[in-house]
Amino acid sequence: MQAEYRQRREQLMSKIGSGTAIFRSAPSSVMHNDVEYNYRQDSDFFYLTGFNEAQAVAVLAPHHAEHRFVLFVQPKDREKEVWSGYRCGIEAAKEVYGADEAYPIAELDEKLTQYIEKAERIYYHLGRDRSFNDKILNHWQGLMRTYPKRGTGPIGIEDSGPILHSMRLVKSPTELELMRKAADIGVEAHIRAMEFTQPGRYEYEIQAEIEHIFKKRGGIGPAYPSIVASGANACVLHYVENTRQMQDKELLLIDAGCAYGYYNSDITRTFPVGGKFTAEQKALYEIVLEAQLAALAQVQPGKPYKNIHDTAVRVLTSGLVELGIIKGEIDKLIEEEKYKPFYMHRTGHWLGLDVHDVGVYQHGDDNPQILQPGQVLTVEPGLYIVPDTKPAEDQPEIDPRWVGIGIRIEDDVLVTPDGHDVLTAKVPKAIASVER
Ligand code: GLY
Ligand code: MN
Ligand code: MN
Repeated sequence: MQAEYRQRREQLMSKIGSGTAIFRSAPSSVMHNDVEYNYRQDSDFFYLTGFNEAQAVAVLAPHHAEHRFVLFVQPKDREKEVWSGYRCGIEAAKEVYGADEAYPIAELDEKLTQYIEKAERIYYHLGRDRSFNDKILNHWQGLMRTYPKRGTGPIGIEDSGPILHSMRLVKSPTELELMRKAADIGVEAHIRAMEFTQPGRYEYEIQAEIEHIFKKRGGIGPAYPSIVASGANACVLHYVENTRQMQDKELLLIDAGCAYGYYNSDITRTFPVGGKFTAEQKALYEIVLEAQLAALAQVQPGKPYKNIHDTAVRVLTSGLVELGIIKGEIDKLIEEEKYKPFYMHRTGHWLGLDVHDVGVYQHGDDNPQILQPGQVLTVEPGLYIVPDTKPAEDQPEIDPRWVGIGIRIEDDVLVTPDGHDVLTAKVPKAIASVER
């Protein structure tokens, strides 16, 4: 794996020429008082180094004669390690992680200058930590003050995102292996959840079954807070309380994915708690499923990314018209976004080290992102008849029989050279296979 991190660094360095790129580790975050959440490295940092400790900075200086890759890390400290866990330390930063040079993080200010004073540009992604942003800006300012004396130094700061994130957008075989594993564990968990669901059980019981499988199969845990939403809770897109007792004649929407080896799956299924759809649930479910299958068919190399959403919107809008939930001419309804009270999110996103992974969705208004092999994305249309939705002026009142139904179907899809591969296809979604 180290060879692959190295190769990624080389690729990035070839793109930044005589610039210097600086990456900061994710901060650790407090759960309460002096207890911290499990540490999760920043995805850019991890992608380039595989290093998963906090308090670290990675510098890529392709123009530097000896030190093209430098790590600043926490030094080994026996006593601190006894309390708060293993540290890699300076030596292993070089030996294991392949840094040409490594320093204690406390020496960052002092040692950083030599790696940027001859760079033409600094590549840095402004993060949420203002004080670290200031640190980088101060270095830059200091170097610009003395620029006339040297005639060298960074004359600009550029966001590292566009370059690095276009690399992250196309997954390597090693990454795909981890993503397939994250998907497989997610699949197993969803199948278990379907088997275990019955009227009278609580949402959190289902969550426990799902997350039990994530851990038991060697996953890091949930890729995001698991959503187990019964009845009208399914109309809350990020419902995470998971406290309600489920009843017969309701639907259960589960949106849960597994983090495995830093990669993620993101899967949603919606199915009847008691085994059988009501007529209304079934009618809406059929539309969402049709939209999902039609959108999936758009996942082909060479096709514009935006076709996926456009296709889903068309099927959903036509379906809403057929059921009399909205009325009008389809093209006009789409143009005026009359479907939006019932379908308020996009049809998917890139998936990878981040659940909502990096990478652009279009290159400006008239230049679509074209799908290419190795990209992984979700396809997740839905319909939500949210209680208390006020219809637009020219639209009918919503018949109460639809209200409170929320449905989403979400799969993870790899673009392949000749089409696509649905990584999460084994979770049932056909009506006959989600009914019992
Ligand atoms: N679970 C978050 C999403 O589907 O985007
Ligand atoms: Mn999801
Ligand atoms: Mn998603």
